[in-house]
Amino acid sequence: MQVFHTENKIIITCNKRLSSYLQQEVEELGFKPTRVFQTGVELLGTVTDTIALNLNLRCASQVLYLIKSFKAADPQQLYDELVTIEWENLIDFTGYFSVSSNVNNEHIRTPLFANVKVKDAIADRIKSIKGIRPNSGAEVNKTLVHLYWQDDSADIFLDTSGETLAKHSYRKIPGKAPMLEALATSTIMATHWDRKSTFINPMCGSGTLAIEAALLATDKHPGLFRMNYGFMHIMGYDETVFFTERRKLKDKSKKDTGFKIIATDISDDAVDIAQKNAKTAGVEHLIEFSVCDFADTLVPAEPGIIMFNPEYGERLGVHTKLEATYKRMGDFMKKECLGYRGYIFTGNPDLAKKIGLKAARKVEFYNGKLDCRLLEYELYEGTKREPRED
Ligand SMILES: C[S@@+](CC[C@H](N)C(=O)[O-])C[C@H]1O[C@@H](n2cnc3c(N)ncnc32)[C@H](O)[C@@H]1O
Repeated sequence: MQVFHTENKIIITCNKRLSSYLQQEVEELGFKPTRVFQTGVELLGTVTDTIALNLNLRCASQVLYLIKSFKAADPQQLYDELVTIEWENLIDFTGYFSVSSNVNNEHIRTPLFANVKVKDAIADRIKSIKGIRPNSGAEVNKTLVHLYWQDDSADIFLDTSGETLAKHSYRKIPGKAPMLEALATSTIMATHWDRKSTFINPMCGSGTLAIEAALLATDKHPGLFRMNYGFMHIMGYDETVFFTERRKLKDKSKKDTGFKIIATDISDDAVDIAQKNAKTAGVEHLIEFSVCDFADTLVPAEPGIIMFNPEYGERLGVHTKLEATYKRMGDFMKKECLGYRGYIFTGNPDLAKKIGLKAARKVEFYNGKLDCRLLEYELYEGTKREPRED
């Protein structure tokens, strides 16, 4: 099975509501999506193509390469189909593999049972050909197989990513309520920031937004921070493709930006964590950090964007205090950030009403399971105030 050179369906998964940003990235890489859905993008490509996809994408979770689609009404039919696949040409018999699944079939109460069926079929097939069963288990750092089984339709994939791509490997210390890195990048993409003007992130917490902004501005890809991917553990893998793609990405990333990225937080612990994370990401020198109340953040005269991810109640903080904070954020943007575009990412619409400015745009996101909005404010002399619901 020449998966490195054979085109087949590739599904790139992402968190809900991130697929339009993922689509944009995939298209910028020169691929043509054949389908875009709520939690992913589909295209045609080889496992060699997945190397570039894994290394380049910021908004994705997993890059899955289809091995086979088939009908299976029950676990026995699933097993019978899976043992016909030439697993001995994909997984080394001395190797290690693990199985994940997304199953909705009346015979399956727990996805673990489906995973065991897949494992058995793969190990039995390899033993019958090679005489040895490869090891398997829950570790996700070797070969990965993914089953997508809905009713009687099953797709079996190689998961070419392994650890999720949605985490960008630099955040060694999470801090309080950090944003998932793929979400943070997508929210910045949603602002249409030009990547060459001031970026201010008060309430920076662990620094995710400021760090993602610096990575975007320098064209530095988080894929460079990882040296292990699922595709490396598929038989036929040629490491020169990986190292060539890595070199290409390293060569095009810029060292400097020529404009300011500013990150502040009232907590010195948060700023300390953010600085450490920025250092791990190699962008510490591009971000000006300081400990202060958001309203004391120094706003450069050259405008750009200012982006807040405040606490929003359901998960953190006390509401009455938050109401005052949201009101002050509105006042600060209106008074101190003229010429900027302001953004507030929040999961609490009642608190958002306290900002007291009319949002020019509301972009839908999820943070985990929580319905969230990125609110956009045009900050000019005549910015419309909204009556606050005090
Ligand atoms: C939800 S967290 C931000 C998380 C961040 N986006 C991340 O990915 O880590 C909100 C942050 O606002 C900070 N904060 C709360 N009140 C503040 C204030 N008045 N001025 C500045 N920062 C404040 C908290 O210390 C906390 O780090």
